[in-house]
Amino acid sequence: MHTKKKLYIETYGCQMNFSDSEIVASILSEHNFVLTKNISDADVILINTCSVRDHAEQRVRKRLQEYNSYKKKNPGLKIGVIGCMAERLKNKLLEQEKTVDLIAGPDAYRDLPNLLTTVEGGQKAANVQLSFDETYSDISPVRLGGNGVSAFISIMRGCENFCSYCVVPFTRGKERSRNPESIINEAGNLFKMGYREITLLGQNVNSYSWENEKEKINFARLIERVALINPILRVRFTTSHPKDISDELLYMIAKYNNICKAIHLAVQSGSTRILDLMNRKYTREWYMDRIKAIKKIIPDCAVSTDIITGFCTETEEDHNQTISLMKWVAYEYAFMFKYSVRPGTTAEKKYNDDVPEEIKGKRLREIIELQQKLSYNSNLKNINEIYSVLVEGVSKRSDKHLSGRNTQNKVVVFPKKNYNKGDYVNVKIIDCTTATLIGEAIE
Ligand code: 5AD
Ligand code: SF4
Repeated sequence: MHTKKKLYIETYGCQMNFSDSEIVASILSEHNFVLTKNISDADVILINTCSVRDHAEQRVRKRLQEYNSYKKKNPGLKIGVIGCMAERLKNKLLEQEKTVDLIAGPDAYRDLPNLLTTVEGGQKAANVQLSFDETYSDISPVRLGGNGVSAFISIMRGCENFCSYCVVPFTRGKERSRNPESIINEAGNLFKMGYREITLLGQNVNSYSWENEKEKINFARLIERVALINPILRVRFTTSHPKDISDELLYMIAKYNNICKAIHLAVQSGSTRILDLMNRKYTREWYMDRIKAIKKIIPDCAVSTDIITGFCTETEEDHNQTISLMKWVAYEYAFMFKYSVRPGTTAEKKYNDDVPEEIKGKRLREIIELQQKLSYNSNLKNINEIYSVLVEGVSKRSDKHLSGRNTQNKVVVFPKKNYNKGDYVNVKIIDCTTATLIGEAIE
């Protein structure tokens, strides 16, 4: 019997990537690897990378340089770069970063055991092939670093929207949906293991579509099937493209108490002119209409968003349009970014990255400041309300408090008493900060 090799996985980027790391962990644990949390113990380090913004790539490159020191201490150590940076930087990474032994793209994880065997033999190995049909549907992910209460299930891969700023269609390839049976099974198993919240994941979950001779399942039907597993299993999803957020889906969310009342609907910009340049396929007015539909069909629904500031040709007027839209929607939460050129995208090929860095910075600060006010105002309105909170664990700030979320995905902190992780607790809100609701349990 060989002793098992120790594998350390470090993950950057979006939730999809974290979910992929769980698939990688599962594949390799079937091939004589055991996970370690201690990097200096590892025989193999895999770094699961993100390319979505320039900043994300720079962080990874810095990290790779730090790995040099581990190799000095342990010359047998093998280092692999997997995920979104793989394809784009394959040659550069294998040749320039001397520490990198292996490269694998997001659709090549089944090949990792092979690639690692090659690497053991002293050679470098790479597979960055993208696939039309790989969904890893038969692989049951090893849950890494979770809280044992909420888990993520990847239901589709890839993206074909081709927003002009975005590298994802190039790094992750064609859109493909996973077999619904395998999704329902995975969710059901997680529930049996004690999980109480499932987030369905994809680059654009609401374009999920699966059919065979008997039936056709869209995202609304799929989420219903997950919700029907058990009323105390909460269901969330991320991320949705505004163009696909149908009334059918909104009615489905309203119908089931355990489908959470929180929708992440990336707007990117409030200016129709910029949205057109971004190839987002909707206008400001169209987006506003969808928000109206959300508020009408699901009155208590929280809405969050992504915003890019300083996209090519963005004027002060365009920026003001984003600001006025943010105020109009009154987002509960927003992820906000400065535009950065990504290689291979339409924006890189056709447009000029002409908004000066200091203007991008100024606009970003403005929208962040505004969003903080919006989040705080939204939280203030929740004072005196009572929410059912699913407990995720002890609060980071104090071990006498528990932390969980309400259906709107807001973090709620309250005194521990005899409650435990995984419990649903009715909490009355008595105070708040920008990021947190503070309350106390009521019997
Ligand atoms: N520059 C800045 N932000 C970007 N995003 C995607 N591509 C870029 C880019 N080139 C942001 C979008 C997206 C989120 C995941 O990252 O807001 O929704
Ligand atoms: Fe980053 Fe996009 Fe890859 Fe996620 S899919 S890791 S956001 S590049």
